[in-house]
Amino acid sequence: MRRFDGTIRNALATIFYDRLTSRNSIEPIPSSVRLEGKTCLITGASSGIGKAVAIDIAGRGAKVILACRTGISEICEEIKELTGSGAVEAIHVDLADLDSVRQLCDVLREQRVRIDISIFNAGLSTISARRSEQGYETMFAVHFLANRYLVKRLLEYGLINPANAVESAAVPRVIFVSSEAHRAGESFDFRDLGTFREFGRKEALLHYGISKMVLCAYACELSKRLNPSDTVSVAVHSLCPGAVATKIAREAPQSIQWLIGPFMRTLFRSPEAAIGPIIYLACSPDAERRTGMYLHCMQEKSISTHASDATNGRILWELSDEMISKYESETRDGT
Ligand SMILES: NC(=O)c1ccc[n+]([C@@H]2O[C@H](COP(=O)([O-])OP(=O)(O)OC[C@H]3O[C@@H](n4cnc5c(N)ncnc54)[C@H](OP(=O)(O)O)[C@@H]3O)[C@@H](O)[C@H]2O)c1
Repeated sequence: MRRFDGTIRNALATIFYDRLTSRNSIEPIPSSVRLEGKTCLITGASSGIGKAVAIDIAGRGAKVILACRTGISEICEEIKELTGSGAVEAIHVDLADLDSVRQLCDVLREQRVRIDISIFNAGLSTISARRSEQGYETMFAVHFLANRYLVKRLLEYGLINPANAVESAAVPRVIFVSSEAHRAGESFDFRDLGTFREFGRKEALLHYGISKMVLCAYACELSKRLNPSDTVSVAVHSLCPGAVATKIAREAPQSIQWLIGPFMRTLFRSPEAAIGPIIYLACSPDAERRTGMYLHCMQEKSISTHASDATNGRILWELSDEMISKYESETRDGT
């Protein structure tokens, strides 16, 4: 209970800190910066932050591929209409199901698309432990395991192509939408990665934080593994957009839903106002020359020590590799 109180306290402190401070260490990217000729994959683009990012990036002239669970045709039409771009397409994916992630990769492979910018944004905040299709805790599955599998396949298929593999090619960018809540996950033992544990409403925020901490640890480890020398082959970054008025609290109890909407709209940023760090990582030359950046709103910060610990990163890599291998061998056997 005390740990839960601490998680809530930290979350509220972060919200007020975000709203009351406007210290920017990075400059917003003006709309004059164009992305013509680039292809951008965005997960969770059906609402909130992902949708606002998709509108911005399509408006800059990039081809956008929206990987969404719901509202596929509506979102595609809406973004085309708002931006005047014809280069918008949507593909179905349920990130809580590795079968669906595999199908998304297969569709992208058939299209032989080269992905310059991948924005792994989809996320959710559950109010109790729920199993994904393969039996993992759902926030762990959506925030981490799906992204781990997706990136692995996209690299294997050559759809995300490290710059050193193709002469004079631009550096692809891989961006993970995480959260400052990841700092609440310090007590997590990485040897327990993937173990399903029941939790209820009181511990839900802590488990959200743990899943985002695992995502940050993955971003760190992926960045190191893809860029073993000083030359950046694939720029891997992560960020927290701050507190944003979206549908993220959709699972909150009915009894407090009437309060949550007005509270969020009053105190939180709109999605359009919150996408600055994502657009910076997708567009700035700085974010192409470097890898492993973490932004909180428009400030660069360090990822928590637990998430950036080398041993934790190695354990995370090895255990998640085993999860994926197990899944792939079961799929091959038709089980
Ligand atoms: N809002 C905040 O204050 C805040 C703060 C820090 C970080 N974030 C992060 O920002 C990201 C975007 O969230 P948001 O605030 O924009 O919330 P949102 O409006 O609820 O959007 C979440 C998106 O993720 C998608 N999604 C959820 N589960 C999925 C699944 N199993 N498969 C495919 N797509 C799935 C949703 O699709 P459906 O509509 O089909 O469910 C939706 O498009 C999340 O990673 C969240 O953790 C948000």
